[in-house]
Amino acid sequence: MRHLSVRQVKLPGFTRLSRLMNSAFAHTGVTFIRADHARLRGYLADDRCRCWAACGPRGALCAFAIAYLAEDGTGCIDLFAVPEATGPGAERMLACVERYLGRRGAHSIRVGCLPFMRWTAVGLGSPRCLFFLDHGYRNRAYSLNPQPYMVNAAVQRFRVPPRVRQWQKALAREGVTFGRPIAKHKRSAADFAETCFGEEAVRKSDNPFRKYWPNYRAQILKALEQGPPYPIFCAFDRDTVIGYVGPIRAGEGRGGFGHPYVMPAYRGRKIGVVLFNLCVDLLRRWGAEVIPLSTGSENTAQEIYAGAGFTYRFLGGGSLQKNLRRC
Ligand SMILES: CC(C)(COP(=O)(O)OP(=O)(O)OC[C@H]1O[C@@H](n2cnc3c(N)ncnc32)[C@H](O)[C@@H]1OP(=O)(O)O)[C@@H](O)C(=O)NCCC(=O)NCCS
Repeated sequence: MRHLSVRQVKLPGFTRLSRLMNSAFAHTGVTFIRADHARLRGYLADDRCRCWAACGPRGALCAFAIAYLAEDGTGCIDLFAVPEATGPGAERMLACVERYLGRRGAHSIRVGCLPFMRWTAVGLGSPRCLFFLDHGYRNRAYSLNPQPYMVNAAVQRFRVPPRVRQWQKALAREGVTFGRPIAKHKRSAADFAETCFGEEAVRKSDNPFRKYWPNYRAQILKALEQGPPYPIFCAFDRDTVIGYVGPIRAGEGRGGFGHPYVMPAYRGRKIGVVLFNLCVDLLRRWGAEVIPLSTGSENTAQEIYAGAGFTYRFLGGGSLQKNLRRC
């Protein structure tokens, strides 16, 4: 698109902006990647970030860039463009953004990680991903970011693999079973939340993800406030909860879950694999067609997800980076 006019904007039309941002991911079925517009409005009004808009000949907004300089000197950007604008228009816009952040002393730039975005990601092999790679950005995943995003987009065709069924049977012989907890498990599920994610567990652990544990604890307790069977999926040793995936949900063709976890003493016995596969099967029966998830870049749970038909679709926000000092 040749006739793009690029200009810095202050408070752009939010309807057009949100349409553009959401269209970037609409076709993927992944709805958790989106902007929190109230926070975005706050940041813009507060001068903590800058926006550029590129408009076509009739003034239609066709690309939009946002830049934010974090306190540690990292520039965070994102760029959303309609497909026709990913050529010179987007290039000019990226140049504006990089010049601006360079002048303000940014040492590097990350795609995504904007404080008002709940999640960001770049589709692997998408025009957006190739555009950034062609402009000096490289995949430098950093440890705490939940960076690989995986999707099973054919959940209705999912069947629990025979070997997983065999592991399930072998575990049953050892007294380990799976299912949604009912009233008699309520106490044990609450104990599980406390033991694994309670204050004491957080205090004693050096797990880098322990800051999320209070949320997991709260989510389990919230699930237990609903009527049985509760909306989590568990592994039991006799009647004791020893692992869970939760909370679980399905609606409008999408399935989702919070977090899978197996108590450390029970790990390495295929409980996690069986638990997860049976949970996906349940979400399939609830009508899920697509299940998206994100995980840690070094988490072995990726093997469990891949074994259940999940494939890599996105690089998480912040993975694509460019070092300005070396340019
Ligand atoms: C991730 C976690 C749930 C796994 O539970 P687990 O019961 O120890 O794992 P399992 O024994 O069932 O499975 C892991 C093994 O099965 C393998 N596996 C997974 N799916 C498989 C499949 N379909 N076919 C064959 N092997 C498979 C894995 O590669 C791994 O292999 P290994 O035993 O040779 O190392 C557990 O480690 C945990 O609670 N971790 C902390 C919480 C966490 O990180 N959760 C994930 C957040 S995204």
